[in-house]
Amino acid sequence: MIHIDYRANEMYVVVVGANSGIGQSLCKQLLEANASVFGLDIQEESTTLKSENYTYFQVNPLIEKEMKNVVEEIKNVTPCICGLVNLSGTIDRFKSIEETTLKEWNTTYDISFKSCFNAVKLFLPLLKKSSCASIVNMSSGLAFAGQKNYGAYATAKNAIISLSRTLATELAPTIRVNTVAPGAVDTKFIYKEDGTTRFDKKSYEHLVPLGAIAKPQEISHVILFLLSQGASHITGHCIHVNGGALMS
Ligand SMILES: NC(=O)c1ccc[n+]([C@@H]2O[C@H](COP(=O)([O-])OP(=O)(O)OC[C@H]3O[C@@H](n4cnc5c(N)ncnc54)[C@H](O)[C@@H]3O)[C@@H](O)[C@H]2O)c1
Repeated sequence: MIHIDYRANEMYVVVVGANSGIGQSLCKQLLEANASVFGLDIQEESTTLKSENYTYFQVNPLIEKEMKNVVEEIKNVTPCICGLVNLSGTIDRFKSIEETTLKEWNTTYDISFKSCFNAVKLFLPLLKKSSCASIVNMSSGLAFAGQKNYGAYATAKNAIISLSRTLATELAPTIRVNTVAPGAVDTKFIYKEDGTTRFDKKSYEHLVPLGAIAKPQEISHVILFLLSQGASHITGHCIHVNGGALMS
């Protein structure tokens, strides 16, 4: 376990997708590291995080006006934030490109990619005021591995990497920008409504050299590291966290 303590500098971090499995774990770890956290998500707050350093905003990350209101509310608390994490993502439908409608494509793209673009644009003024700002965006191993029926999601997650690399060059040396690309993670993301997984979990685990699907905290801990000064010389990078399932 790396030890990160934000208290000395009163660090504020914004997590978009804070109600996600990975987001909940990240917010908990950030609070344990004494950061102040603003959690944003489209759903009603379902968190068990009870801390005076945690503020939740129910907001649609795709609606600029709603997001601008949140930025204004945050500005009333602090003039700068040192971290922005973008975790929104969905696989709307499992279909081949041939079967995917434009509407389905756009839905997956909007949630999995454009929400990130939107949040980055709106929070940049606050990030620019920090002396050690860092952005972490969520990609996926599927962005790298060709796999049928994941077209919209995989290309959206690939776009996240391109966006992050572009930002890393445009915002250097003031703001670092990195991505994390997990393999399968044990959150509700991989389960269907009937409680079964969207893929054969046992077969997947059999293929993973480390022999298991990731726990959310194994992903959030890497995000925490990328946000920290321990990663002060890392930008434009994508960290794969997949138990060795994909080696690149
Ligand atoms: N779980 C995995 O196997 C896995 C693997 C690789 C990448 N990821 C990525 O990790 C991130 C977090 O996912 P998770 O595993 O914690 O799953 P999750 O299902 O708990 O989280 C999904 C997140 O996307 C948000 N979201 C869903 N629909 C939305 C909409 N219509 N508008 C706005 N936001 C919406 C949810 O509110 C939530 O914050 C996602 O970007 C996902 O693509 C997950």
